[in-house]
Amino acid sequence: VTFYYTEAYRPQFHFSPEEKWMNDPNGLVYHKGIYHLFYQYYPDDIVWGPMHWGHATSKDMIHWEHKTVALFPDENGYIFSGSAVVGKNNTSGFGTVENPPLVAIFTYHDMEGEKAGRTDYQTQGIAYSLDNGDSWTKFDGNPVIKNEGMRDFRDPKVFWNEIKNNWTMLLVAGDHLQIWQSDNLKDWNKVSEFGKDKGAHGGVWECPDMFKLNIEGTATEKWVLLISINPGAPNGGSGTQYFVGDFDGTTFTTDQEDAKWVDWGRDNYAGVTYNNVPDNERIFIGWMSNWQYARDTPTEVWRSANTIPRNLSLHENNGTLELYSYPISNFDEIVEQANPKRPVLLAPAQKSQLPLKYGNQSEIRFHLEALGSKWIFSNSQGDSLVISLDSSEKVLSLDRSKSGKVDFNPEFVLGQQHMPVPNLPTDAIEVRMLLDKSSLEIFLNKGQYVMTNQIFPNADYTQLTLENTSDTEQKIDRLSESKVMRIWD
Ligand code: FRU
Repeated sequence: VTFYYTEAYRPQFHFSPEEKWMNDPNGLVYHKGIYHLFYQYYPDDIVWGPMHWGHATSKDMIHWEHKTVALFPDENGYIFSGSAVVGKNNTSGFGTVENPPLVAIFTYHDMEGEKAGRTDYQTQGIAYSLDNGDSWTKFDGNPVIKNEGMRDFRDPKVFWNEIKNNWTMLLVAGDHLQIWQSDNLKDWNKVSEFGKDKGAHGGVWECPDMFKLNIEGTATEKWVLLISINPGAPNGGSGTQYFVGDFDGTTFTTDQEDAKWVDWGRDNYAGVTYNNVPDNERIFIGWMSNWQYARDTPTEVWRSANTIPRNLSLHENNGTLELYSYPISNFDEIVEQANPKRPVLLAPAQKSQLPLKYGNQSEIRFHLEALGSKWIFSNSQGDSLVISLDSSEKVLSLDRSKSGKVDFNPEFVLGQQHMPVPNLPTDAIEVRMLLDKSSLEIFLNKGQYVMTNQIFPNADYTQLTLENTSDTEQKIDRLSESKVMRIWD
């Protein structure tokens, strides 16, 4: 079968598997000029099932080449989420110093054990590749970390720890994070725990990640910890929180008590960042769905896509540290620059209509002079997706209740979504929206506040209405609508 990527709702510029079910991105690693993307994959159906690791590669994280399945379930269980490292210095002994192995570290989920009522059915395993990820061999000493009855004990993120010169693993165990260390990727010791009394606990902790970032414009380094939780996201279901703190090589500490959120939309889950990227760039990819309804979205050949890869950065605003996420600059190469439009001047309550020439394959950008603005995407089928930026409350709200097909699952619409924007500038607000066949990503002020949502309109949106909801005249500046080129040929 050849897939042309022309089915209804098929993302044109986001990664989706050729066919069948996908969830979390796994094993994000850069090696020899290639970005690897592995992902939770069930090759036999479009719903979740016995997990494999699917595989794709890219030179720019925008255009992808599909590879054969990397990891298959075995007698230890299904292959759940995890990470991959370049095994530098060949500390694992799987390769040579000249040709270090790629090593994948993942969770085994033993379905039989779970069915039998045991609580130790999640363990950690490793596998290696000596041919740049084309073929994989599981370690014959698996599992490398056994389970002492923790039930939820998964999603290892391993990175090279420059403070201790060892391999460091983040693991989540229900309501907290555990940090483990190893010299050879095979023998592991637990060194610390974090989080039972911090952040959001509306659901199980999943898919941890941790990395160092400079506070923009300063020499101060902080560590950022990402923890996905399901359920418990601010707008319902699955979401990803973050903590800003310090890491001494062994223990993560922070005085942050409450959760902060990577993305306020309903469809950005289990996101993690690339290992081994040159210049320490932090690049994040999330799964663009939500466990509340992931199995029911109206596609037939495949299910789910990833977010646009995003650059993460840390900024201090009004004394608060905020994690920004913004499309990687490679994305700009598939945006065909359209002619910028004239500035639009709107009196209070006045509207302006912008025809969307490229429908659901476009990038829309503009700058607002002040908060108090409403944006409506619509089509001739009567679908509308409504976004409003309120000035008195300092909140962005999104209503997808009439955005297209919504009734495939009652939890797809749980009322309006809200995103507080406390530190957004009140003038010169940059707005950037990426509209694909079945998603809308909204970035405010270079990614300071982000909202990602799936949408299933009955036809492409053909119009964007911009309305001034403030009580003074408003100028919408540097408005542009550009075509985004499809990434599949
Ligand atoms: C997150 C998650 C992980 C798990 C994987 C199973 O979406 O639940 O915790 O490893 O999916 O597919």
